[in-house]
Amino acid sequence: MAVDLQGKDFLTGEELDRATLEALLDRAAELKAGRAEGAGAGALGGRTVALFFERPSTRTRVSFQVGVSELGGNPLPLRGDELQLGRGESIGDTGRVLSRYVHAIVIRSGSHESVELLAEAADVPVVNALTPAHHPCQALADLLTLRERLGSLEGLRIAYVGDGNNVARSLAILGRTAGAEVVVAAPEGYRLEDGLASEQTGDPRAAAEGADALYTDVWVSMGDEEEAQARREALAPYQLNEALLDVASERAVVLHCLPAHPGEEITPGALYGERSAVWDQAENRLHAQKALLEALVP
Ligand code: CP
Ligand code: NVA
Repeated sequence: MAVDLQGKDFLTGEELDRATLEALLDRAAELKAGRAEGAGAGALGGRTVALFFERPSTRTRVSFQVGVSELGGNPLPLRGDELQLGRGESIGDTGRVLSRYVHAIVIRSGSHESVELLAEAADVPVVNALTPAHHPCQALADLLTLRERLGSLEGLRIAYVGDGNNVARSLAILGRTAGAEVVVAAPEGYRLEDGLASEQTGDPRAAAEGADALYTDVWVSMGDEEEAQARREALAPYQLNEALLDVASERAVVLHCLPAHPGEEITPGALYGERSAVWDQAENRLHAQKALLEALVP
């Protein structure tokens, strides 16, 4: 059954309560199982979805484009430098105008505030496809993957080691909504604000102890390039590696949102090993986002 979030924006994941999140994940699983038979085809019939990417993307851009097409809609990829935005038109006016043509706007931006301004001005649903602060579409796929591998999300211990960034924040927000425990291990200065994670520690081993999932992301996110060296030094003790897997639960899975830098934030053994759920996680972006678009787009 489709989930009804018609007309709403999806900017941080805080828009979803637990029942709605579970229903979205159920629907994503249905769309995944029925993909070959065309499940969801026609849900976006006659609708156009703008895919506005101001920053690079492999998974998000391609999975949204394929997803919109599979739902019978028309995906419209746009880049910042080809719009008048690049010549000073405001993000608000861009949103007002796009709303007259398209039925939803998916945006990846270097500024979370710009995405909020776009959403305020636009009359159509706006979906955050990554800002420096949040990556909620990623967290939907993360939770879908954990549910597939481990069953119920309730009470799962998810250890996130490394930079307390957009991916960590969205995982903490939606993980908490799902009833999971998200423990973040990061050095001082790289942690999430208080109140999002179940626990934050400077000790990656303590976070990994008994964990059902070990998760990491890059140490140098888009926009952090100038701090690259300082970040690599500070985050070096927080690598997702075999030593952490040794203290995790026997059933523990490895997650990474990708792109990865094997040998840096994650060892090749963890990324490509038998406990890795990373490739399913990447695939699940498609199914989770199809369920989301079906729910949001009137
Ligand atoms: N995980 C993720 O969002 O990947 P892309 O940057 O390739 O979209
Ligand atoms: N934290 C990373 C995620 C990339 C998908 C970044 O923002 O660059």
